[in-house]
Amino acid sequence: MNRRRFLKSLGVGLAAVTTTGCGETSSSGAPAEPVDFPLGLDLPFAHGVASGDPLADRVILWTRVTVAEPGDAPIPVRWTVARDPGMRDVVASGTQEAIAARDWTVKVDAVGLEPATTYYYRFEALGARSIVGRTRTAPAGAVDNLRFAVVSCSSLWSSYWSGYAHLAARDDLDLVIHCGDYIYDFPDQDELIRSRNGIFDTAHPDFRDWLDLGELRRRYALWRSDPNLLAAHQQHPWFIVWDNHDIDEDYGNELDTPYDDQKSTTTLAQTTQAFWEWTPSRPPRGDGSGEFLLVEDGSYPEPPDSLLVWRRLPYGDLADVFGVDTQIGRPGHGLTLDAGHLPDGTPTLYGRGQFEWLTGGLRESQRGGVAWRVVNNQAWFAPADIDAAGLKPLGISRWSSYAGERAALCRELRGGGSDPLRVRGTIFVSGDSHGNFASDVVESAKLLPDYSPGAAVRNPADGTTPENVQAGFVRATTGNTPELDARAASVGVEFAPSSMGRGGADETVKRGNASSTFAQQVAGARSLEAPLIGLNPNMQFLEWVEHGYGIVDLTPERAIFEYWWQDKLVPDSPDVLGLQAVTWAREDAGASPAPRYRDQVDPVALHGLATEATRGTRRSEPAPGFVGRPR
Ligand SMILES: [Fe+2]
Repeated sequence: MNRRRFLKSLGVGLAAVTTTGCGETSSSGAPAEPVDFPLGLDLPFAHGVASGDPLADRVILWTRVTVAEPGDAPIPVRWTVARDPGMRDVVASGTQEAIAARDWTVKVDAVGLEPATTYYYRFEALGARSIVGRTRTAPAGAVDNLRFAVVSCSSLWSSYWSGYAHLAARDDLDLVIHCGDYIYDFPDQDELIRSRNGIFDTAHPDFRDWLDLGELRRRYALWRSDPNLLAAHQQHPWFIVWDNHDIDEDYGNELDTPYDDQKSTTTLAQTTQAFWEWTPSRPPRGDGSGEFLLVEDGSYPEPPDSLLVWRRLPYGDLADVFGVDTQIGRPGHGLTLDAGHLPDGTPTLYGRGQFEWLTGGLRESQRGGVAWRVVNNQAWFAPADIDAAGLKPLGISRWSSYAGERAALCRELRGGGSDPLRVRGTIFVSGDSHGNFASDVVESAKLLPDYSPGAAVRNPADGTTPENVQAGFVRATTGNTPELDARAASVGVEFAPSSMGRGGADETVKRGNASSTFAQQVAGARSLEAPLIGLNPNMQFLEWVEHGYGIVDLTPERAIFEYWWQDKLVPDSPDVLGLQAVTWAREDAGASPAPRYRDQVDPVALHGLATEATRGTRRSEPAPGFVGRPR
């Protein structure tokens, strides 16, 4: 069940579709001609630069050559990597050709780099230079600190993306993890909406499902015209997986298009193709091993099988970062994944190959002495259900419909499956919920019989608007005692920072009552948060109004999670720290004021820590030269 249907079935009624933002829905029926939107930078490198999927000796570099009237001829593009932002201390360079078949995108696997090192890079073509990008290779060996940002559900239509600007300004990030829904197939009709063209017109190609590969590529180009997103790509390497809106279960036919009865001609092969073209992602090999395709000669790393996205980034002895795919196996994509790892008839999201790769990789990571396992995960995994008298059982996540596979994964992590090793220190970072969640990971709250979580209390911190006071609910106690780890069934923790824009309970509640004030909408969201955290004792924090990004700060001793919020309807909105939570790598049953057990997450205040923003242990000079164009 998706989030909208979940909220609707709770009785949060959705009003009939009307526009809430700019302008009116077109009723002319006339197809709008594609129009240009303002580009973020000058031609030909109008969509900036990006990097991603760093390894200890290499990183993917990305750009696109954009010209007014591209011909058929390949365009040579020179790339350069240097140690300094002035691009004087050059360490690698080469030439690649941009071609139409790849939508004029350029992707280079820049090799021969040093681990845990910040690099700067630039492209040149047609007598012009791109902006300079900054990136960073992964570490190898001993690591004392890592800092990841976590982003998901980034709808340009829904937000001014101040969060992306704040990410760009950070100088101590190792990686930006995007959990999917990087682009959106259509605007949420319940949203307050930003549009470059001041339109709300489902016949316009920038404002509805794409109809073909050209319009899909144009969607990526529209997203990559936003200065805040361009800056966030320019300053950090990213690790991106797709979700339902990126590869669109109906390939572009999800939103009714009142436009000549046209249906999208896009295929799954094309939606995944565009993902590989437009994201700085390193494709895995085509054999289903989850191993990377490593390109040594500077040529374009073409995915052998564009449907394979699950892959793994090692970050020394401190973390392994797994990217999973829990989207492509859903029925709407028409694939039949091998469910041979599950009892007969149990549906699978992973498919056997990915499940065995993931569980095997998590075990291998722990056996190799790696402190943390971070899973870049599309959809909320732990139970977040309402199963109460008088209400139909409901879950907010697709995992409620795949409980058998969720249980199988938890069993493997607990050491009760194919291998007796209990895997510790697994952190699911999740998107899709469009709210701020933290949880212990169990397949069922019934596995916590000794846990008396106590009432959830209001978060002492306020949100980004005067209406959102005491934003959300947190657990007031760990429930554990020095003698008893009452949450021992937990196999990991889950951290979901809110969406980078797409609406949560805030907007859906508003739609239920169009005349409500924002304070009433916040109160409505609170009335959903309270039963969700109340009925799911595994959940430790829940706030469903604010939007933004998360920070994961790792040391060998602990992982700290930060929820960073911005008012999505206000350009240049300040960055507000909503809550800090912590999980511990080592047990200390005698710790005061609360015992520390592994695989449990709590607000830091429960452990006597002050809530103050973390800082990394290093600083990197920013890449220069970015001047976003005014919109
Ligand atoms: Fe989403």
